Amino acid sequence: MTTDLSSINKLKPLGFSRNEAQETLIHNYKVKDLVAQYGSPLYILCEETIRARAQEYVASFKKYYGEAEVIYASKALNCMAICKLMQQENISLDVVSIGELHTALKAKFNPEKIVFHGNNKSPEEISACIKNDVRIVLDNFNDLRLVSELNTEMKNVKVIIRVTPGIECHTHEYIKTGKIDSKFGFNLGDLLSLVEDIKNNYTFITILGLHCHIGSQIFETQPQQDAAQVLLEKYAEIKSKFDIELAYLNLGGGLGIKYLESDDPPEISTIIKNSCDAVTSICDKLNLKKPILMMEPGRSLVAPAGITAYKVGNIKDIPNVRKYVCVDGGMADNVRPIMYQAQYHAELDAKDPNENLEQVTIAGKYCESGDVLIKDIMLAKAEAEDILMVFSTGAYNYSMASNYNRATKPAMVLVNKNGHNLIVRKESLEDLIAHDLIPDHLA
Ligand code: LLP
Repeated sequence: MTTDLSSINKLKPLGFSRNEAQETLIHNYKVKDLVAQYGSPLYILCEETIRARAQEYVASFKKYYGEAEVIYASKALNCMAICKLMQQENISLDVVSIGELHTALKAKFNPEKIVFHGNNKSPEEISACIKNDVRIVLDNFNDLRLVSELNTEMKNVKVIIRVTPGIECHTHEYIKTGKIDSKFGFNLGDLLSLVEDIKNNYTFITILGLHCHIGSQIFETQPQQDAAQVLLEKYAEIKSKFDIELAYLNLGGGLGIKYLESDDPPEISTIIKNSCDAVTSICDKLNLKKPILMMEPGRSLVAPAGITAYKVGNIKDIPNVRKYVCVDGGMADNVRPIMYQAQYHAELDAKDPNENLEQVTIAGKYCESGDVLIKDIMLAKAEAEDILMVFSTGAYNYSMASNYNRATKPAMVLVNKNGHNLIVRKESLEDLIAHDLIPDHLA
């Protein structure tokens, strides 16, 4: 499946449309019918959108750079079908836990195309990387100790060293990770002695290159270029001091997406072009061979593909104060509004999104006053049993979902032109108690 790559930077999935009755469709399939079949809330993913965005990353690197590796940060949305889809699109995988790694390996993802991140990897996680030839993002001295202690067979271990380059970016405080005060990565000042130590004392380790990640939901193209400058200056120092030419450079993820019509993130091709041009020119200036460029997008690959469909139930009107439209999900399936004050766009199925609008607040169903999905949105007049769609929910919704109030996690369905397939089944009430135990004295 290939797609016209011109302007895919849309708030709604590529397969989204409305018919004359204002019913919404993903490709040929009515959202109403998907909800009837799979239940609500329902995570709906448009396959074409994910593929188009993956292809735009790959094509842009080819056009503007040369050798590169696009690595999907699977924390955004990790399940076996998505691992398969990424592998089909020649995208590598970033995992951050034994759980994400297990999912990828069970989906038969090529382990050599996986990189493993984390600021406090467990012995089990490091051992799994060594056993499966997964590349390790060396984040700290504890990682180095574990790699050395657990590599009993003295296998060659490939690492990428993560540093904090001290680049700030304008995004939510909680998702800034490249600044100096960060739990992630080595201090830049420790880098040269670390490289020397590895060269002299850990001969089984191959250093592929350096890594940094400066934040998430970033709309500017400059921070990543500044980070490249900081890192490549270190490449030059490492070359002159230790005669080591690092082959890879990993600039992390972070490209922002549209949550609201007013959001204006750069196109994928623009951010890639700018970063590629910057790396090429910095390498020229520093007399370095161009490294294989890695980037780790998460959100920008999957978020715009997702819609969460809910059913409206209770509508509470407090005259002159607020009208609450309550849906059958909320913070258990999308914690981002309550956690980051994240904003979303929503519309009703089968109602004109531009007519007879009123200001309402969309509330979730969980026992917490703050469980509000969208505050003050202009929405067509809602009634019980209407289907409400929240857009741009493909990233960090399912992956951050919880069982708060013993909610069952929703199903996820992948839709393309030829059909729709369940890729995560809805949790059942039995799933909820599957791990509960009753000790004898309470039985
Ligand atoms: N690489 C590393 C090392 C990261 O830490 C992250 C995200 C990514 C790549 C992917 O970043 P992306 O392209 O998705 O922005 N839960 C938050 C986002 C946390 C991001 C953490 N790291 C949210 O819902 O906004």
